[in-house]
Amino acid sequence: MRALLHPVYGEADTLAVGDVPTPVPGKNQVLVQVIAASLNAADAFVMRGVPRMVRVGNGLRRPRRRRLGMDCAGIVTQLGPGATRWRVGDAVFGQGLATMAEFALADEDRLASLPEGVSHQDAATLPVAGTTALRAVDVANVAPGQRVLVTGVAGGVGQFAAQLAALRGAEVIGVCSGRNVERVRALGIANVLDYETQNPLDTTTKYDVVLDNAGGVRIRDWRSVVVRHGVILPNSGVKGPDGGALMRVAKAQWHGFIAPQRVRVFSGTVTTQQLDELGNLLAAHRITPLVDTVYPLDQATEALARVATHHARGKVVVAVAPEGTATR
Ligand SMILES: NC(=O)c1ccc[n+]([C@@H]2O[C@H](COP(=O)([O-])OP(=O)(O)OC[C@H]3O[C@@H](n4cnc5c(N)ncnc54)[C@H](OP(=O)(O)O)[C@@H]3O)[C@@H](O)[C@H]2O)c1
Repeated sequence: MRALLHPVYGEADTLAVGDVPTPVPGKNQVLVQVIAASLNAADAFVMRGVPRMVRVGNGLRRPRRRRLGMDCAGIVTQLGPGATRWRVGDAVFGQGLATMAEFALADEDRLASLPEGVSHQDAATLPVAGTTALRAVDVANVAPGQRVLVTGVAGGVGQFAAQLAALRGAEVIGVCSGRNVERVRALGIANVLDYETQNPLDTTTKYDVVLDNAGGVRIRDWRSVVVRHGVILPNSGVKGPDGGALMRVAKAQWHGFIAPQRVRVFSGTVTTQQLDELGNLLAAHRITPLVDTVYPLDQATEALARVATHHARGKVVVAVAPEGTATR
């Protein structure tokens, strides 16, 4: 099968698309024929091996798995031992292992049924970014009327978090660069700040929740614009004024200890239940994915280069096979 190969840690020009054996599903796994896959900031971290902690479990000097990709949508083609949740021919979406390929393995409980009327390309945008966004609004306990600030609102996690918070009745304020403001407004987020000309710290009304996906502002500074019992969720893995990912976690713990606000670092997990919730919202047109570019698998290196800028305008999608391949 064709797959994106990741022989060394480095930039996208070290990647290539080539032929590898089709994997065989292990215990409680299924093999998915990938119709579409999408990329996340985390794929760029794994590609580069930076932050260094991504190398733990993935090879300290060279990538052990030598493949990339976490999100996918496609058709179940083979069941591993003990896998009972899916049948061959089911259309699914969710988290897989090395999804930038014609076939990918997935744990059966990290998949959900593709909802009627939803394309594989749209569903493939949801797994990591959508479940992380869902987890963020749950951890923050977003409630009607709250002022919720979301940075990186044009990115993967931000776009879904903003839409989910708005669905819960919050007043959402998005932050992105000027070129993305209108695209974010088109998602139904009316209040969008252009960080190139407007500073979210210059506010007379404090926020109840800050979900910081961009990491461009110190936690200490967010504290000054968040209400006393509000919530701050530092969620960026990119190096910023608070340092890299590990330092940001340490600072979040420290501020969580000394501040009146709740400062929480959280980790998203992809489950069938969360995917079902997101898939149903997508099918009902209550959330809409903002897509930057759709690349063919042969151009997966360009797709990785795009996501590695950390300035993609929405989700970067890789179309591996035609939509019509679905058997339902
Ligand atoms: N906790 C978890 O389990 C978890 C899971 C997934 C992701 N994450 C983290 O969440 C972050 C976002 O991930 P993603 O996949 O959504 O990334 P993404 O799609 O690359 O989006 C990043 C966004 O950040 C924006 N941005 C960059 N600098 C900014 C600034 N100074 N102010 C405001 N926005 C800025 C960019 O928009 P502009 O081009 O408009 O600047 C871009 O849209 C990553 O750092 C990742 O590590 C955490």
